Amino acid sequence: MKIELAKTAGFCFGVKRAVETVYEQIRLHEGEKIYTYGPIIHNEEVIKDMRRHGVEVLETEEELDRINEGIVIIRSHGVPKPVCDRLDQKGIAYVDATCPFVKKIHNIVREESGRGAHIIIIGNSAHPEVEGIRGWAGYNVTVIENAQEAEGFIIEDRECRICVVAQTTFNYNKFKDLVEIIVKKGYDIIVLNTICNATKERQEEARDIADRVEAMLVIGDRRSSNTQKLFEICSDACKDTYYIQTLDDLDMNQLRSVETVGITAGASTPNKIIEEVQNNVGINF
Ligand code: F3S
Repeated sequence: MKIELAKTAGFCFGVKRAVETVYEQIRLHEGEKIYTYGPIIHNEEVIKDMRRHGVEVLETEEELDRINEGIVIIRSHGVPKPVCDRLDQKGIAYVDATCPFVKKIHNIVREESGRGAHIIIIGNSAHPEVEGIRGWAGYNVTVIENAQEAEGFIIEDRECRICVVAQTTFNYNKFKDLVEIIVKKGYDIIVLNTICNATKERQEEARDIADRVEAMLVIGDRRSSNTQKLFEICSDACKDTYYIQTLDDLDMNQLRSVETVGITAGASTPNKIIEEVQNNVGINF
């Protein structure tokens, strides 16, 4: 049995930074109430550990409205501008752990929409990162996720400049295809590929490994969009691809007859979980 672990598996720079920010705030503000706005990352195991340290997750703006003290940490996905404004108005201290690559997109869309551009975000409109980006883009903003939406995109003012950005975790090839459809419409358009390199590298390495192994394990939280995409990519290349959150989800029988197993993991999967899977797959064969 040969196990190949992707070098890019696990926490990316932005997630590591956000998680470290929370533990740093716990240390610095002992006895004070600490909140995160939304789960700091999409990983249930990490969130549970933070809860054990007294960190509370605020899920909605209503919940945010109810608090009058403490420190709020903004997650790596970022939040819409009105959330920051609300915290400022309430005089609640907050620590912005938005990934700098996401923050860069906030700045782009804020500046471009300030200059009158219509913003297109290529991404999943329900994803918190996209909701956040949208919340910095003013009113002229469209989210496009698939070819049908790209084909249907139209704005009345043909002179209006269009600025296209991408959700950082979007699949690069899909992004290229969607941009191609939009560019053909002949608008004055500027396209900024804001897909994070960490995502692209992770996706490419995952595909490479999945291409040459007999079974592939993708580790990550069910809600993590970048893990879901990794699973899609690996399933395309290797039909025996399994999506697991922790070692408990792994059915060893599924790997009985294979000789090579690849392992990758989403950006919000802690090393501890990856190592546990890697060690157990190794031991069991
Ligand atoms: Fe940031 Fe890229 Fe991770 S955008 S949160 S470093 S996947």
